[in-house]
Amino acid sequence: MASNNLATLANKRILLGMTGGIAAYKCAELTRLLIKAGSDVRVVMTKAATEFITPLTMQALSGNRVHHELLDADAEAGMGHIELARWPDLILIAPASADFLARMAAGQAGDLLTTLLLASKAPVALAPAMNQAMWLNPATRENIETLRLRGCHILGPDSGSQACGDTGPGRMLEPVELADACARMFSPGWLSGLRIMITAGPTREAIDPVRFISNHSSGKMGYALAAEAAAAGAQVTLISGPVALAVPDRVQAVHVTTALEMLSACLACVDAHDVFIGVAAVADYRPVEAVSHKIKKAAETMELSLVRNPDIIATLAGRTPRPMMVGFAAETDNVTAYGADKLRRKGLDLLFANEATSTFGSDYVCATALWRGTEHDQILSNVMGPAGKSLVARQMLSLIQTRWLAAKQ
Ligand code: PMT
Repeated sequence: MASNNLATLANKRILLGMTGGIAAYKCAELTRLLIKAGSDVRVVMTKAATEFITPLTMQALSGNRVHHELLDADAEAGMGHIELARWPDLILIAPASADFLARMAAGQAGDLLTTLLLASKAPVALAPAMNQAMWLNPATRENIETLRLRGCHILGPDSGSQACGDTGPGRMLEPVELADACARMFSPGWLSGLRIMITAGPTREAIDPVRFISNHSSGKMGYALAAEAAAAGAQVTLISGPVALAVPDRVQAVHVTTALEMLSACLACVDAHDVFIGVAAVADYRPVEAVSHKIKKAAETMELSLVRNPDIIATLAGRTPRPMMVGFAAETDNVTAYGADKLRRKGLDLLFANEATSTFGSDYVCATALWRGTEHDQILSNVMGPAGKSLVARQMLSLIQTRWLAAKQ
């Protein structure tokens, strides 16, 4: 679980606006902290900021292209400045120089960062950094007061010895203090701090270049869980088989085709998660070998040799340490009994059993939650639905959270 005090930063979109000042170097650590807490960070630098730290450094740290020109055709083709203004949950200007505060207070729009501030409705936090005399100057005091009255959050500055040799107020707050202040601006979602990994959709196992074995999973159940978990503040990784659905907002997706690819994608990131939810309808078998050319029609019958795929959820459940393991079971008959058997056999903490034919591809689901009680071999259950997959997904996540908290005690 991510550290508690920064937990509200999970899934948040933070636009870090950097202006010219020696404190710009602290933005490297600040960006690292925000990203570690689960935020998506996009950096916009004024020309002066680029004199102190390179856009390349900030790009490498944020994992996103750095924006620094208002009239940049390439950048506009990616995320244009109006789109960028609409994107963040918070704009943090750090360091905020005296010159930038003055231009902002005057409502100027002469460069990309000031333009974004005028065009954005996102809350704004300012981390001033300047020489103590500049900070105490009546012009700066007035600008800060103007910005405060407009609703900007003023973070710091700190007081102490300065890079220029002076002592007094004007030092930018430390990265950890800024990250903490940003975290306090967001109220926690009910799943804030929880890192959830979800598999969804079918897998496809190639017979030849044009044919495959698969099933009717549409991905709707797994995607509904991913969307609801992210909306509740969880950090969500979605390992998806081939489906025709858009990746939900604030969800990190990894796209795979086969069961073997799904297994290696899961193994690559399972350790960074608290909960694993296996919703995917993974093909139990794959052709022994995929023929490299299209198989020609000839005899009346043909035989296909299949080999068992690894069981992804059972493999992950057998590891130590392991996340909380939540499975699904799609059955055509004896739904609850077969589900309970899978819960035990695969070593899971919780399982949702549903009828296969009515659930595949549908917008609705009726599922029975199954988990072990404290008595020997006792299985507890709870029916969810029938209702829309989003509503049932919220009920499922609520039970997952309850079981997760119970296991932590
Ligand atoms: O995608 P939709 O159209 O919305 O449909 C939703 C659903 C019916 C696919 C979903 O609700 C569901 O029931 N998913 C599990 C389907 C399934 O194939 O269950 P299973 O009984 O074969 O597998 C049991 C569990 O083991 C599942 O958590 C499955 O992800 C996992 N498994 C299975 C085989 C395998 N090789 N590796 C696995 O990890």
